[in-house]
Amino acid sequence: MTARLHPLIVKTIAWQTEADTASSARALARQPAVNNAMIELRGDLGTGKTTFVRHLLHALGVQGRIKSPTYAVVEPYSLVDAGLDIWHFDFYRFNDPDEWEEAGFRDIFASCGLKLVEWPDNAGPHLPQPDLALSIVLLADESRAVTLSAFTPTGKRLLA
Ligand SMILES: Nc1ncnc2c1ncn2[C@@H]1O[C@H](COP(=O)(O)OP(=O)(O)O)[C@@H](O)[C@H]1O
Ligand SMILES: [Mg+2]
Repeated sequence: MTARLHPLIVKTIAWQTEADTASSARALARQPAVNNAMIELRGDLGTGKTTFVRHLLHALGVQGRIKSPTYAVVEPYSLVDAGLDIWHFDFYRFNDPDEWEEAGFRDIFASCGLKLVEWPDNAGPHLPQPDLALSIVLLADESRAVTLSAFTPTGKRLLA
């Protein structure tokens, strides 16, 4: 992996319940910078990465069921009215570096839109620097401690 830059801002919040996850997702969806951003979601299995993405996509206007891309690696969404393309990646089962080029992931990350990435470390050295990273830790009382790290000016705007 290439060396990670230090974040510009780090913010820590708590999600006591899924309602708090939803309210963080709505706050993020209100930031115009979300239209062209790369956001990493870190945390063990079951901490709530996909749940956060579901709330975020619904807040942005995606209708219907949002599947976890664990098997497909990526699920694309296109909000025609908003002119917004979204890609939800889950690299949990990703183990073929050649697939990166073949599947066109390089092109996706170079495109304008919102890229949401679960298990970014499994993508090997390919992934570009994120604008924002959410790291979720599940606590004994089922609440979640969430660290938000902004790495770019876009990431800073997302935390505003
Ligand atoms: N903030 C939260 N509070 C309580 N339960 C949550 C919260 N976020 C997610 N969950 C629950 O945790 C479980 C796993 O969530 P999921 O989003 O699939 O995890 P991940 O994608 O990190 O593996 C789901 O059953 C979900 O309902
Ligand atoms: Mg998941």
